[in-house]
This record gives sequence, C-alpha cells and structure tokens, in this order.
Amino acid sequence: METTTPAPFTVIPNRRPASDEERWLAMEDPVFGKVFTDHMARATWRDGEGWTQRRIVPLAPLPMHPGAAVLHYAQQAFEGLKAYRHEDDSIHLFRPERNAARLAASARRLALPELPAEDFLASLEELVTIDQQWVPGTPGASLYLRPLLIATEPSLLVQPSDEVDYLVTASPVGAYIATGDQGASIWVSKGYHRANAGGTGEAKTAGNYAASMLPQLEAKAHGCQQVLFLDAKEDRYVEELGGMNLMAVRADGTVLTPSLSGTILPGVTRDSILTLLKDSGRTVEERDIELAEILEGIEAGEIVELFACGTAAVVTAIGRLVSDDFDVTVGDGSPGPVGAEMVGALTDIQYGRAEDTHGWLHRVV
Ligand code: COI
Repeated sequence: METTTPAPFTVIPNRRPASDEERWLAMEDPVFGKVFTDHMARATWRDGEGWTQRRIVPLAPLPMHPGAAVLHYAQQAFEGLKAYRHEDDSIHLFRPERNAARLAASARRLALPELPAEDFLASLEELVTIDQQWVPGTPGASLYLRPLLIATEPSLLVQPSDEVDYLVTASPVGAYIATGDQGASIWVSKGYHRANAGGTGEAKTAGNYAASMLPQLEAKAHGCQQVLFLDAKEDRYVEELGGMNLMAVRADGTVLTPSLSGTILPGVTRDSILTLLKDSGRTVEERDIELAEILEGIEAGEIVELFACGTAAVVTAIGRLVSDDFDVTVGDGSPGPVGAEMVGALTDIQYGRAEDTHGWLHRVV
C-alpha cells in the first residue's frame, strides 16, 4: 500500500442537485442500486505519478475511450459498504477499514494500483457528508456505497493499465432480496462455477459476478431467487452464492460456514456475524462443507437452518435448496431463529441501537 500522506478531496458541488421532492420520490422505495445521489468521488492514478485529482464532483456519465482496458479485459475491482443514519441523525459507516483492505487485496490480484486506506476513508467521508440528505432514515434502509477501480488506459494489449480511475457512487437502498415470510429459494448450480483455485474468487471483481449471471438466470427459470455455487474442482463442496456467503445451523446450535479457501469472497458481514455468533457463545466451524452433508443433514433434521449474508443482502434466510435432482425444504421453509438473531444483533449495532463493543462504527456526520 502507498505510504505517502494523502491530499484531501476537493469538493466541486453539484449546481443542479435533485430538489427535495425529487429526492423524496427517488428514496420512497428504491430498487437496489438504481437510484444515485447528486455526487460521486473520484481520483486518478497514472504510472509514475501515483494518485492525484482527488475530488468530489457532480454525478455524471464518464467520458471513456472505447479502447479503455476495463471494457475489454475487465481489469477492475470494487467494494460495497453502507452508511447508516442513527436516531440522533448522526451517520456512520460500518467497518470501512475492512473494505479499504479488501479493495487493496483485490487491486493486488488484478494488477491495479492500491488506493491508500486514508484516501478510501476520506472519499467516503466527503461523499457521505455532501450527500447526507440521501441517507435514508427509514427502518432497514441505508446509503449503499460502491467504490470502484477501473483501468482506463486506451490499450488492447493484455497488460496492466498505466491509467486507473477510482470512483465512488452512492445509492439509497432498502432490501436486496425480498422474501416475505418464507426463506429464499436457492438454485444449486451444477456445472457452472464461480471461481477456481488460483483464479479471482477471493477478489471482489466484475468477472466473478459476470460469471454468475447465466447460472442466476437458470435459478430464476427454476423459480429461485439466487444461485449457490459448488467448488470447481470436485463439484462437491458448497462455496458461496452470487454475492453472499453461506451459513448453516446444526440442531445443536453449531454454525458451519465454508472456510476461506481462496475461491470465496472474505465477506465483511460474514466476519461480523462469525464474531457475533462467538460473542453469543455459539460454536462456529469454518471448514469444507459437502453439499451432501447439507442435504442429508436437512433430511435428517440435523441441519435446521440456512442463511446467506452480505453487505447488500444483510442476512437472508434460505427456505429451499433446489437442483436438477433434488428439492429440499429447510425446516418448514420459514426464516429460522439464528439468522433472525443475527439480523437483530448486526443491525442494532449498525443503526446505533446497541453498544458498538467491537468499535465497528466510523462516524461521518
Ligand atoms: C455487496 O453485498 O456489497 C455486493 O457487492 C454484492 C452484490 C450482489 C450487490
């Protein structure tokens, strides 16, 4: 990571921000990631110069050369985190230093320049401050922040770009997956894989998500909301969903989750929930988990609950696992108590309703 002292972000305010009425309408019931605030953060990197032009500017389309490396070879990395409004109107980020570190790790894997953690934090602080009226105050809603590194050099050579842009957009959001009083139905993909050993599975980068779209369509065609991937080597071990980590609860209260083997995204929500589970005295097992162990466990009543977790999805109960050769309901298909306890414990900290004993909140406003 660069060690130079970062310069502040210069703020160039949007002279035509949304009116109060436009903003209220846009924030009423936003579809995830479809509504954007008035500003975005930017910084530019050039080989030999490092990071310059740190700025907050009006949200606008990007003029980009059609030969920009990111458009051809997907040399990019991104992040997802949220800002939460508390009852006293203060606004807080949740564990942003984790996202800074993960973006740096993804950048290393994608041969992109690392953004110093101080710049990452400063960009979010400035953006959330200027767009603070876009941080929802309604229960369960928040401002989703999407930091992004993209290779902008016009070059069709398959080599690391010598120009990179850092961008952050912000979107008021509610629930990512609406499941009602039943857990989500999950399609277990056979044959399609998200990541291979030595590939980019543990980086947060576009290609992993692009690869999940066709299996996601397959999931939809089978009446499921999400797809679960198995390992690419043996098609046998559960890995993660298309943007969420997986947890399984045994009848004795132990919680199982696939270990971070290099092909799984190290989720910040995953890590926070594992910590909260341990805080509440539960045993947690991070290890390889065979799909057969989950299916047989559900049938035998030994696995009593499944849930997915991620920044966007928070905690999403899983009610059903489906594939070509099975259709299994978890318990009675409704959300289980451990997932519910974790949504409560996590969101109570995020929204300032419970003491932040781990120092996870980063106050911005
Ligand atoms: C997030 O949870 O922040 C993600 O980037 C996942 C994506 C499916 C929205």
